[in-house]
Amino acid sequence: MFARGEGPWLFDVEGNRYVDYMLGRGPAVLGHTPTAVNEAVVEAVARGLTLGQATPLEVDAADAALSVIPWADQIRFVSSGTEAVQAAFRLARAATGRRLIVQFEGLYHGWVDGVSLVPGDDPRSAKSATAGQASDSGSQTVLLPWNDATAIDAAFAEWGDDIAAVITEPINIFGGVSPAPGFLEHLRALTTQHGAVLIFDEVVTGFRLQPGSAASIVGITPDLGTFAKGLGSGWAVAAVAGTTELFDGVATDRVRLSGTYNGNAAAMAAVIATVAATSDGTVHRGLNEWGAALRGALVDAAAGCGVSFATEGHPSAFWSVFPDLDAAESVARGEELGRLLWDERVITYHRTWLPSAAHDDDALTFTLEAFTRALRNL
Ligand SMILES: Cc1ncc(COP(=O)(O)O)c(C=O)c1O
Repeated sequence: MFARGEGPWLFDVEGNRYVDYMLGRGPAVLGHTPTAVNEAVVEAVARGLTLGQATPLEVDAADAALSVIPWADQIRFVSSGTEAVQAAFRLARAATGRRLIVQFEGLYHGWVDGVSLVPGDDPRSAKSATAGQASDSGSQTVLLPWNDATAIDAAFAEWGDDIAAVITEPINIFGGVSPAPGFLEHLRALTTQHGAVLIFDEVVTGFRLQPGSAASIVGITPDLGTFAKGLGSGWAVAAVAGTTELFDGVATDRVRLSGTYNGNAAAMAAVIATVAATSDGTVHRGLNEWGAALRGALVDAAAGCGVSFATEGHPSAFWSVFPDLDAAESVARGEELGRLLWDERVITYHRTWLPSAAHDDDALTFTLEAFTRALRNL
């Protein structure tokens, strides 16, 4: 059990210090307890937390967030990534008048029934991932393998008239799979051709790889994007953003997107302070430089131990790879390394390393010593 976090560190209830690369499963891009964000939140909640009315804070948070999601015209705040994804589905279905959502195997979009799915016998028979879900959880889904252009072509050929949206992550950070060359371009072209909505789930990539949306990194512009985690530096806030055309139903009240805590003062202050701290790019430049240095140092340390080790992904979100092994063995070895690192008080998210802007020389030294010990036990 853990008692507190500070910068790149977590402290367990016995006072042991761990260097943290899980960062609350992503949100703590600025490190734990970022002072500027926390102070802004405290100041804002002193004026009332949940007023149930539009506030200048909500307008300012929308302006701030949209300033770093340049392809979007409008934004709606909710309280979790799961909700943001559901809001995006509703906007897409309302705009197209269609039912089906194309999702990809192994990509996580939240815990509710319609996205908590595993493959069935064919793309239209996805099954519940856990006990307790509705028996028809997968009934409005086309579930396909990611990075498979042939499968998506076949899906559009068969059900194109009824596909409201395709949802994907621009980079599958937690699954550790980059988009295949041309795959996102193909999704963009197909959705446009068939009048379907392309949704980028940026709950992980947004506000982590660079300030705001990561769409420009992959060079593809979606129609809708979902954001959470880094958006509020750990405060419970999420959003769906997109084009005016897709938000039209909200403006006319044809589409309802409501929630008691949406736009609450703590969440809005956290968004404003996060964007203020990061929008000029300096923080992410430093974070990416640090992440790149860490990646290089890990590879060198592994070579020093005679282990063939590499990383894939982005400097601010990368994953362990063992190039001499086949894909499945490399994943298993990466998971094992993650467990051994825990024993050495380095917390990764399975195979994935998420550095924060607060990781420093002390964290680097601690990590490399622990990594070397963990490799010797691998
Ligand atoms: C890509 C992605 N989408 C959606 C979600 C769901 O977000 P939340 O846990 O805030 O509901 C997650 C959570 O990890 C995620 O990684």
